[in-house]
Amino acid sequence: MEILTTAAALQAHTENWRRTGQHIGLVPTMGALHEGHLQLVRAAAAECDVVVASIFVNPTQFNNPDDFRLYPRLPEADAALLAPAGCTALFLPSVAEMYPRPSVVQFNFGPLERVMEGEHRPGHFNGVATVVSKLFHLSRPHRAYFGQKDFQQVAIVRQLISDLAFDLELVAFPTVREPDGLAMSSRNRRLSPEARTLAPRLYQSLQAAAELIRGGQTPPVAVQAAVREQLGTVPGLELEYIAVVDAHSLQPLAGWDSGRPVALCLAAHLGGVRLIDNVVVGVK
Ligand code: PAJ
Repeated sequence: MEILTTAAALQAHTENWRRTGQHIGLVPTMGALHEGHLQLVRAAAAECDVVVASIFVNPTQFNNPDDFRLYPRLPEADAALLAPAGCTALFLPSVAEMYPRPSVVQFNFGPLERVMEGEHRPGHFNGVATVVSKLFHLSRPHRAYFGQKDFQQVAIVRQLISDLAFDLELVAFPTVREPDGLAMSSRNRRLSPEARTLAPRLYQSLQAAAELIRGGQTPPVAVQAAVREQLGTVPGLELEYIAVVDAHSLQPLAGWDSGRPVALCLAAHLGGVRLIDNVVVGVK
């Protein structure tokens, strides 16, 4: 596996791969890799000739300076995990390399970003769209792999690809979970042992809510109230939001529409660590 640290080096490789007819898979990450990331890399390796994984803790998508400062950075350990997963090249740029001058272009995703993460983390998706656009231009992938764990991010990237005519296929990969149900996340490393034992309650509450939805008798507001009530009993847990939205438009639902999938998405703080999770439910 090659480690590339400059945009020019990545572009040169990309050009070469394209010229020789190789299919390029891109897996953008912020590092502190776990099995969720590695499954994206393995899926890319199975479907593409070359796999570019990027590790870049992107300052423009953090709206909380402490979160950016405390974000785990483990490039050597990450590189050791990527090679056996089938990664061809690791792109590991510095902030100065990605942002030679402050970026000023602003993305506006309209209603898609006025809910959930977009509402609670102002500017977050502007930073994501900026860095993902750059990564698309530098690596010119045929396929780009993203996790459903970041449900709204997938919707935003899908819109970005469509609006800017990026010629690539978006692959949305299912959420990879710990055996107890906790969605894998780089931020899980920062959970105290006690918080770690409580964290699976997030997914449990989403599963219980999904059952209510499948039952068809409970309106969205009552589903949200049930999640709030369940999570209200978890010591040290602060629910930031629980949203019941249309899985495509991400707009809040007042009732159920048969045949239209529903996404239940939440964010919560547990012992100072911000966690997100979601489930998608088909409505009969
Ligand atoms: P990061 O949080 O490192 O995640 C990188 C990719 O891995 C994302 O597509 C994310 O959805 C996916 N992922 C994370 N945890 C997962 C899990 N448990 N199961 C499946 N996939 C999972 O998301 C970002 O970085 C950044 O916003 C990025 C897209 C790299 C732009 O900076």
